[in-house]
Amino acid sequence: MSLLITNISELVTNAPLEAVSVASPGPFEAIADAAIVLDGGRVAWTGMAAEAPAADEVVDAAGRAVLPGFVDSHTHLVFAGERGAEFAARMAGLPYSAGGIRGTVAATRAASDDELRSNLARLAGEMLAQGTTTFECKSGYGLTVADEARSVALAGEVTPEVTYLGAHVVPPEFSGDAARYVDLVCGEMLAACAPSARWVDVFCEEGAFGADEARAVLAAGEAAGLQPRIHANQLGPGPGVQIAVEAGAAAADHCTFLSDADVDALAASGGTVATLLPGVEFSTRSPYPDARQLLRAGVTVAIASDCNPGSCFTSSMPLCVALAVREMRMTTAEAVWAATAGGARALRRTDVGHLGVGARADLIMLNGPSHAYLAYRPGVPLISGVWRSGERVA
Ligand code: NIG
Ligand code: FE
Repeated sequence: MSLLITNISELVTNAPLEAVSVASPGPFEAIADAAIVLDGGRVAWTGMAAEAPAADEVVDAAGRAVLPGFVDSHTHLVFAGERGAEFAARMAGLPYSAGGIRGTVAATRAASDDELRSNLARLAGEMLAQGTTTFECKSGYGLTVADEARSVALAGEVTPEVTYLGAHVVPPEFSGDAARYVDLVCGEMLAACAPSARWVDVFCEEGAFGADEARAVLAAGEAAGLQPRIHANQLGPGPGVQIAVEAGAAAADHCTFLSDADVDALAASGGTVATLLPGVEFSTRSPYPDARQLLRAGVTVAIASDCNPGSCFTSSMPLCVALAVREMRMTTAEAVWAATAGGARALRRTDVGHLGVGARADLIMLNGPSHAYLAYRPGVPLISGVWRSGERVA
């Protein structure tokens, strides 16, 4: 069954108009007064509404905008409990520290598989309703062999983009013996998790893991067939970004505190995406990184939610787009690109993040005539329809 969506005021494709088929997301691109045809779960045709071919079914967008579904390349959804009181204390003046993670680790270890599964399903549902059609999900609140293995397995039930983050923090039972914990992360725990994961990640930060430990974790992960990505430069300047580039990581995430040398290294990397997480700066009252500096230098920038119970408990990519525009000085087009094509680059995916012919038919319809409405009308539920692989899912 083919589906024609027509009468679209603005169709964001991130693909050249003339292309017969598109192998991966290109730069920001949009078609005015457009239509799109979906067939067999893929984009079959895009162009001017006046030139649209016939299809089995027709949806009238009535002047709304249509965009690629959001690609959220950084989330931590496998956890139990919540940390609302920690957030309130932070807003009253306490700083964010990596130590809060241990509270979630205790709650996660105590939870049953079904509790974790239902929390995960609730958050994945929230994300879908807000237009996220592809997302990455990390472990990292188990931190025992068994709890990390079940975390990656549960994440794999909701997404193929699963990240092993045994190196989130040193758990309390290894306190004072980080080296022994890193051995476990690189040894038995990795062996138990690698079959269920695509990515390996490490929180490289004061209070979490240092440069040598981070390098060891990424190298062990790669030797086990996982691809590296990294939590870098979140709480202060540090070696994370340089390690990401050295390792050929798909992405360096957070990038809140960057030196000029970090920006240069990302620009010269030829493949390491800087994933900005504006919800974290919002929720931890941290300074926002300067996306303009990164863009000016030619760095590929993605935006993701970092949905987690501690540093940022939003699942909303529309909020992240609005924050990136207002607080990180991105244009509306740059922010929408970063939340779609940028996320796809950060996950090394060519089939999502764009609506070129041949792409997966993952798209969202906005209650508004242009992509700019995501930032122009912050906090308003604007997603009026979501299609995933050509099927209407919200
Ligand atoms: O990406 N930075 C490390 N990990 C998460 C926060 C986890 C937590 O506070 O529970 C992050 O911000
Ligand atoms: Fe994170």
